[in-house]
This record gives sequence, structure tokens and C-alpha cells, in this order.
Amino acid sequence: MKSIVDKKDIGLLKRCLMYLFPYKLRVITTFFCIVFCLILQIIEPLILGKVIALLFSKEFEKLSVMLMYLFVTELFVTILSFFQSYLFSSLSENIIYDLKRDMFQKIIELPVKAFDQMKVGEFISRLQGDTATVASILTNQLINTAIDILRVAIICIVVFQISIPLSLVIVISFPVTFLIFTFSGKKIRKQSEELAKLNDSYFSNLQQSITGIREIKSLGIKKIKINQFLDLAILLKEKNININIISTVARSLSQFTSFLSQLCVMAIAGFLIYKGQLNIEYFIAFTSYSSQLTGSLMNITQISSNIQKALTSLERIFNLLDEFGYKKEKFGDLDKQHIEGEIKFCNISFGYGDDLRVVDNLSFTIAKNNTTAIVGSSGGGKTTIFNLLLHFYEADTGAILIDGMDIKHFNEETLRTHISIVHQTPYLFNATFAENMLIANEKATEEEMITICKKIKIHDYIMSLPHGYKTVIEENGANLSGGQKQRIAIARAMLKKSKIILFDEATSSLDNETQQMVKELISSMSHDHTVVVIAHRLSSIIDSDEILVIDAGKLVGQGSHWNLLNDNFTYKKLYESELECRELIS
Ligand SMILES: Nc1ncnc2c1ncn2[C@@H]1O[C@H](COP(=O)(O)OP(=O)(O)OP(=O)(O)O)[C@@H](O)[C@H]1O
Ligand SMILES: [Mg+2]
Repeated sequence: MKSIVDKKDIGLLKRCLMYLFPYKLRVITTFFCIVFCLILQIIEPLILGKVIALLFSKEFEKLSVMLMYLFVTELFVTILSFFQSYLFSSLSENIIYDLKRDMFQKIIELPVKAFDQMKVGEFISRLQGDTATVASILTNQLINTAIDILRVAIICIVVFQISIPLSLVIVISFPVTFLIFTFSGKKIRKQSEELAKLNDSYFSNLQQSITGIREIKSLGIKKIKINQFLDLAILLKEKNININIISTVARSLSQFTSFLSQLCVMAIAGFLIYKGQLNIEYFIAFTSYSSQLTGSLMNITQISSNIQKALTSLERIFNLLDEFGYKKEKFGDLDKQHIEGEIKFCNISFGYGDDLRVVDNLSFTIAKNNTTAIVGSSGGGKTTIFNLLLHFYEADTGAILIDGMDIKHFNEETLRTHISIVHQTPYLFNATFAENMLIANEKATEEEMITICKKIKIHDYIMSLPHGYKTVIEENGANLSGGQKQRIAIARAMLKKSKIILFDEATSSLDNETQQMVKELISSMSHDHTVVVIAHRLSSIIDSDEILVIDAGKLVGQGSHWNLLNDNFTYKKLYESELECRELIS
């Protein structure tokens, strides 16, 4: 007969039990609570049998003593059960916390590539749903199963002392129950795996619908989204019902089996009492034990399906903790307090997948303390150059050097401290204006923040708000205009005071006047910073010290605006198409 858990599952459970390890004292206390409770519960039927026998023999003095014993036993059972529940819930909550802590630390360490391929909902589903399932099963249910197994073992020993034929009847029903829960457990495992995948899609769909609500409304696709949501909710509902049906059928079958065995017990007990081989006192104790046995076996039946659910969740949690098979972000250990800021790309080739090369044998140098612009048609690989410089992705071939040193050798802090970026679509946190701007540099002062905000013309707007710089920005700047978001992101990057500052289309949403202010701010910084600007509007970068022209991942030109306009076909085409656009608009 195949076991309900295989070798891999045992590995998962062992790893999971490690989470109980820090709470060994609590686990030991729980264990003793359980054992005492169990002993008392096993003694109780014997006292009860005696009480009933004394009732019939009318020995009231002895009866009152026995009733006292019964009262004290039950009182202790109640107290111990309370402690047991308290310890279970404290263990469970602590394990949930530990799992969430480990998972979040892992998520934040995952390479950017993992986030390209995983849906946000999948992370949430694992972090929320799976941890709760595992913790509840690991503490409450797994420990309860251990108690039930212990109870079954002890009761078996006791009942065999009372009557061998009656005990045999009960024991014969075990294999049947075992078969039922093995079979149902396997089915539930499969269904649980499907349920977990459905949950991923459900959370992902929900998250996308909420974050994309503006697009949904403006595209007029509310109905489509509602239908998608309902389809998933219905599938989830059906899957849950299916799982419940399997558990219920298994429970009912094992209930019926135990009823049959109890029926046989009654028949045989009647015969034994008639023959004088069993007295009423033990018969009462026996029936109480057999109902405890039935209850425990029923719980074991139930736990088997819960263990299957937990195994599915455990697999998903450890899969995340093992980084989904993604290699951890690799950094060196070189710690540099100061850098000069010269950047060099040496024969860099890179593709996001295996098939397409986005950057092809790219080599260029960006001088320190200069403003360099990167231009080129959309999809040409400009943002990818920044992604590689930030070490979000590793190049397939070649090396990226800062001050002549491969960025692979820098430790993470050095790389993140010395490079700032304002993204094409900046992300703002659900925090105050001040917190959003000062978050990356705890040494930056409020005065510096205000000076920069004045320069980029956002100060007056912030001051017009009821709480000024302490006003809370909604998630991802939902209560701000595109230009305001960009300005906050620019201020944040400036305040970080990195030697290298990257702007990826960072001024596209600004009006001409503010764009001019930002341009002036950038050029005032460039005498002691390396500034690299990606821009679609060539008019905004014609003053740059150097311009790199990128086309289909290749460097097709490098020089000043006027040199490129005379000598470079791609640049000339880009410039002319921009002029045409401007003429069309005016
Ligand atoms: N995370 C990603 N996963 C897979 N492919 C990507 C990813 N990011 C970009 N690409 C692909 O790489 C190519 C270059 O993209 P990139 O964002 O570098 O272009 P770009 O020059 O910045 O374009 P734009 O001017 O429109 O911002 C595109 O074909 C794009 O589809
Ligand atoms: Mg881009």
C-alpha cells in the first residue's frame, strides 16, 4: 500500500517542523498539557463506569467520592484544554510571522527578472493564504493528530485489557478507515494544487483590476473585468465545494464503518454479559473508549486531507524561499565610499529571454562630470542600458566598468549609493511628500529638500496643501499629476546625492518652463556629477556634452549634437521626424 506522504513530502514536513524549533519550550509545554489531558480523558471512562455501577449497587458514600473524582478530573481536563488552545494559537501566530518574515526577505532579494515573470497576486497568495494554511495545520491540526494517534494507541492497550473479542472488532475497522483516508487524501492533494493555482490567478486578477481601475473605466471594459472576476470566483467556489465533498464522503464513510463496528460491539458485548464474561462497569467504560476511538479516527481521517492541503502550501512556500530557481542577485564585496563616476560599457550583449538580443555588442564610455544623452527609437534598448548599469540584470557577455572596475565587484550598497535613477514612470510610496523625498538619504536635510523643490517648481504646490510636506501621497501618487510625480521623483534622486544620476524620460510630463528649470538644475549639477539622460525630445538634450545614438541595441553614433546632425544618418532622421511632428502640432 502506498503511503499518503512520499519521501519528498517528508522532506517538506521536516523543513516545516524546523519552524517549530525556536518555540521548543512552548511545544514541550503543549506536549505535557496534551499528555496530562489525555491521561485524564482515559481515566474518566473508568470512573464513569464505576459511578454507574455504584448507582446500581446503591453505595452512596462511595458514589459521592467517585463523583468528586469525576468532577476534579473534568475540571483539570477543562483547564488543560484551555492552555492547550492558547499555546496552539500562540504557536500558530508565531509561525505565520516567521514564515512571512522569511518569505518577504526572500521576495525583496529576488532578482528583477523574477518580477518580470511572476504575477504580484502569486506573491500575495503565497504570503497570505499559504502561510495561514501551513501554520494552522502545523500547530493545531498536526499536533491534534499526534494526540489522536497517541490516544488511539493508549486506548487500544486499555480496551484489550477489558475484552479481547470486543477490541478485535474495533481494531478490524482501522484498515478500512485507513484506506478511506489514503484514497481521499490523494484526491484532495490534487484538488488543492489546482486550488492554489486558481488562488494565484484570483489574487493576480484582483490586484490588476484595482491598480488598473482607471484603464478599466476609460476603456469601458468593466463588464469584461467583472466577468473575468466572477469566472475565477466561480471556479474557486466549485473547487472548494469539490474538496469539501471529498472530505465529507470520506468522513461519512468512516463514520458508517465505525457505526458498523459499534453495532458488532453491542451484539458481542450482549453475548459476553449474558455469559458472565463481562461486567456492566467495564462495558460502560468500553463504549466510552470506543466512542473516543471513533472520534480520534475521524480526526485522523480529516487531518489526512488537511495534511495534503498543507503539503501543497508548503511546496509553494519553500518554492518561494528557494527563490523559484532564480539565481540570487550577485554582488561583489568591494566597498567604495567615493567614486569618480566614469562609466564604460565593454562589448555588452544582453537579452531578456534566450531568444532575442536587446543589446548587441555595445561599447562606449561616458565621461565623469559630464552630461551624456542617450537617444534612439522606441524599443531600441535605452532603458535596458540603465537596467544593466544598475545591475538589475546581468549582461550575457562583456563588462560594465565604473572607474575602470567591473560593477560585479562592487557590493550592493556601493552600487545603490552611487547611482540614482528617475524612472520613465516613477513610483511613489504611500507616505508623506517629505518621506518620499528623504527616504533614500537619511542625511539630507529638510532645507535641502525645500531648496530643490523650489528649483523644480513643486514647493508652492506642496505648501498649498493642508499639511504641506507632511501631506500623504496616495499609493503610487494617485492624487498627483504626472508632472508632479516626476518632480517628486527628481527631487528624491537629487537628494540622494549620488555621483551618477540617470534620468529615463524623466521630464516628459513637465511643461516647457519646468522642463527648462530641470535642465538648468541638471547642467548645474553636471560639473561634479555624471549625468546620463534618456530623452525622446532631442531639443531637450542638444546642449549635452555627448550624445549616444542607439538603434536596435547597437551604438550607431556618438558625438555632439552638431557633429551628429552632420554625420549621422540615424540621428538626422530622428531630429527631422521631431521637427515634422512639431510643425504638424503647430
Ligand atoms: N522586462 C523585460 N522583459 C522582456 N523584454 C523586455 C523587458 N523590458 C524591455 N524588453 C524588451 O527589450 C526591448 C528594449 O526595451 P527598452 O525598454 O530598453 O527600450 P527603450 O529604448 O527604452 O524604449 P522606449 O524609448 O520606448 O522607452 C524592447 O523590445 C522590449 O520589448
Ligand atoms: Mg525606455
